[in-house]
Amino acid sequence: MKVSARVIPPDRELKLKAGDNLRTALIEAGIPLDSPCGGQGTCLKCKVQLSGISRKYTEPEKEKLSREELDSGWHLACQVTVEEPGEVRLPEIEISRAKASFGLLGEEISLQPNVRSIHFELSKPSLKDQRADWNRLAEYLERSADKPVSTELPLLRELSTRLRE
Ligand code: FES
Repeated sequence: MKVSARVIPPDRELKLKAGDNLRTALIEAGIPLDSPCGGQGTCLKCKVQLSGISRKYTEPEKEKLSREELDSGWHLACQVTVEEPGEVRLPEIEISRAKASFGLLGEEISLQPNVRSIHFELSKPSLKDQRADWNRLAEYLERSADKPVSTELPLLRELSTRLRE
C-alpha cells in the first residue's frame, strides 16, 4: 500500500510504501539526509519532524531524543517505519542541503564552505630568501585573503614535505 508524504523542503509529494524505512525511502527519492551511522540510530543526524507517517517511537528514539523533541514530533528517520500519510519536515541543515541539491528554480543560493581549494605557487627558497616554508606560505595566504592566517603543529611538521610532493 502506498501512502503520500509531503516533504518540506522541497515541498514535494512522495508516494512511500507502507512498511518502508523512512530514511531509506527519502534517500531513494533523492532527498539528501545526513546519516553517518548508516541508520543505526546512534548519530542523531537524521532527525525529521513528522506529522502523521508514524506515531510510534522506537527505544533508540525514546532514549536519545529530548522530551521536547518527542512532544514536537521529532523522530530519527532511520527508526521510522512508514505507516500512514503525513508530512516530513527536514531540519535547517537538511533544508540547506535540499535547496542545494534541488537547485530550487529561481532561488539563488550562496554557498559559503568552510574549506576551499586554492592553487598557488610559492617562490623557492634562495640565498636571498631563506624564510621558513610556513612564513612564505602565510605571507602569500594573508596577502590573498587579506586577513591573518594561523596553523597548528601537525601541519607545520608536514608542510615542507607536502609542498615538495
Ligand atoms: S542515521 Fe544515524 S541516527 Fe539515524
